[in-house]
Amino acid sequence: MLKFFSVLILVACVRAKYEDKPCASKQIPGESVVCVCNATYCDELQRSIPSKDTFYVYTSSEGGLRFQKQPGTFEKSDDFSKFHFVLHPKKTYQKIQGFGGAVSDAAGINWKSLPPKLRKSLIDSYYGIRGLEYNMARVPIGGSDFSTHPYAYNESPVNDTHLTNFTLAPEDFQYKLPMIHQMLGVSKVPLDIVATTWSPPPWMKTNNAFTGYSRLRKEYYQTYADYHLKFLQTYKSEGVPIWGITTTNEPINGVLNLAPFNTLGWTPGEMGEWIVNNLGPTIRNSEFKDLNILTCDDQRVTIPLWFNILIMEHPEALKYIDGIAVHYYTDKFSPADILDLVTKNHPDKFILGTEACEGSYPWESPKVLLGSWDRAKTYVTDIIKDLNHNIVGWIDWNLCLDSRGGPNWAKNFVDSPIIVFADKQEFYKQPMYYALGHITKFVPKQSYRIAVETSKTSVKSVAFVTPRNTTVIVMYNDDDKTTVNIKRGERALQLTLAERSIVTLEMYNSDT
Ligand SMILES: *[C@@H]1O[C@H](CO)[C@@H](O)[C@H](O)[C@H]1NC(C)=O
Ligand SMILES: *[C@@H]1O[C@H](CO)[C@@H](O)[C@H](O)[C@H]1NC(C)=O
Ligand SMILES: *[C@@H]1O[C@H](CO)[C@@H](O)[C@H](O)[C@H]1NC(C)=O
Ligand SMILES: *[C@@H]1O[C@H](CO)[C@@H](O)[C@H](O)[C@H]1NC(C)=O
Repeated sequence: MLKFFSVLILVACVRAKYEDKPCASKQIPGESVVCVCNATYCDELQRSIPSKDTFYVYTSSEGGLRFQKQPGTFEKSDDFSKFHFVLHPKKTYQKIQGFGGAVSDAAGINWKSLPPKLRKSLIDSYYGIRGLEYNMARVPIGGSDFSTHPYAYNESPVNDTHLTNFTLAPEDFQYKLPMIHQMLGVSKVPLDIVATTWSPPPWMKTNNAFTGYSRLRKEYYQTYADYHLKFLQTYKSEGVPIWGITTTNEPINGVLNLAPFNTLGWTPGEMGEWIVNNLGPTIRNSEFKDLNILTCDDQRVTIPLWFNILIMEHPEALKYIDGIAVHYYTDKFSPADILDLVTKNHPDKFILGTEACEGSYPWESPKVLLGSWDRAKTYVTDIIKDLNHNIVGWIDWNLCLDSRGGPNWAKNFVDSPIIVFADKQEFYKQPMYYALGHITKFVPKQSYRIAVETSKTSVKSVAFVTPRNTTVIVMYNDDDKTTVNIKRGERALQLTLAERSIVTLEMYNSDT
């Protein structure tokens, strides 16, 4: 009896230790719900560790479920006559690098506009063990359009080949570095940060301006490589290690004058020349020799240019390039097979998604669409598709924005998974936030994608084995409520997927 009571007390103690906090939901008319976080409340989810005989299912839906957690038990596989998903944990594909969001000035400004407790909740929501467990981030080197004005480091003196006046900007000290330090403090795993230049100081460019048609002046090829090295040194001295750099944000913008914001145009040939003669040797001969160098950093459709043509004209660039960075904005219009060709021809190069957001197309209005389930769907189906085409990770754009989708000096307002209301001292977690979390929280770095055989193609899916010794499948059902049978080895289970829902299933690997 005593034993029974002590077990009860023990269970009660364990229970009392941590309880998930549900979404404080707010229905947006005509859309789905957002979850409201304020100084005293913010929803939280702790991943439950499945035992040998159980699994956990997490559901978010247009109807308003957010990370609804349910345990389940297995059945024998011969109880079912048909399976919709058969998982093959021994047939593995790419190794996962991770997931994250970007510390733009705009994100930092919005984060800073909140009281300290809410700032912490916001970072916990993304990087904490009760949040999305992000392990990556992207940070602009200098300004981007998501700044209050265009700027770069060492803008003066001009023609300063040796960068004698390279210092960080007020934005680094006020917003970006403090935000990153809080992320580093919260994260239980090392943070892999990708840094990217949008535009160098105008004096390095042929048009002497931040925007418009431009090229790097030949006499500053080495200076621009050194500019990156100085950034790495300076951030390191501020306690922020950088995991990778890209070879300039969206080079096509400065070639075709596609964007009203900070750009630098590169032809593939010129960029190849710069990587081989300047950037590559500068990095590899420095203390940052193990840094990841990612090229392209532009839309998927541009891979044939800023990767294929670049390495055709300058094959030696392959010696320096670790991976290819791709952006999201043409995914709807371009086949993902482009990604498969990279993996097939260059199995030693990885592909990482480095930027994505909704609301960026000129015809999309409003830019911030509160409660939009359609945007959550676009996010999760894009990530599932990318992962099925060998992408090793996916970095979202601004971690948070204001209700207008800014600030952005070039008025290029867009949506974000977290929208901050400084006046009300609240932030809203959009459906997109949960769409990301259904993958990021359950698929840590060093997971491997595995094969899934499926006869139910209306449900999008992707599956992994993880270093947590679990198998995870993420599904998106865009239809009415539907029942699916899932099999992994001898274990089988049946799930009912809610109407228009994202479902993550995690089970222990009985064979490890
Ligand atoms: C914060 O949110 C909680 C949960 O929705 C609510 O009960 C509380 O009243 C809110 N506090 C303030 C100050 O708005
Ligand atoms: C060096 O840069 C700072 C801004 O970071 C600027 O105020 C100062 O004038 C620059 N010095 C020179 C000599 O241009
Ligand atoms: C900087 O270099 C450009 C291009 O060579 C030149 O036109 C300009 O006069 C130079 N400016 C100064 C202050 O030396
Ligand atoms: C996973 O399994 C391996 C081999 O049995 C074991 O060494 C490791 O500690 C396990 N890891 C976790 C997170 O359970």
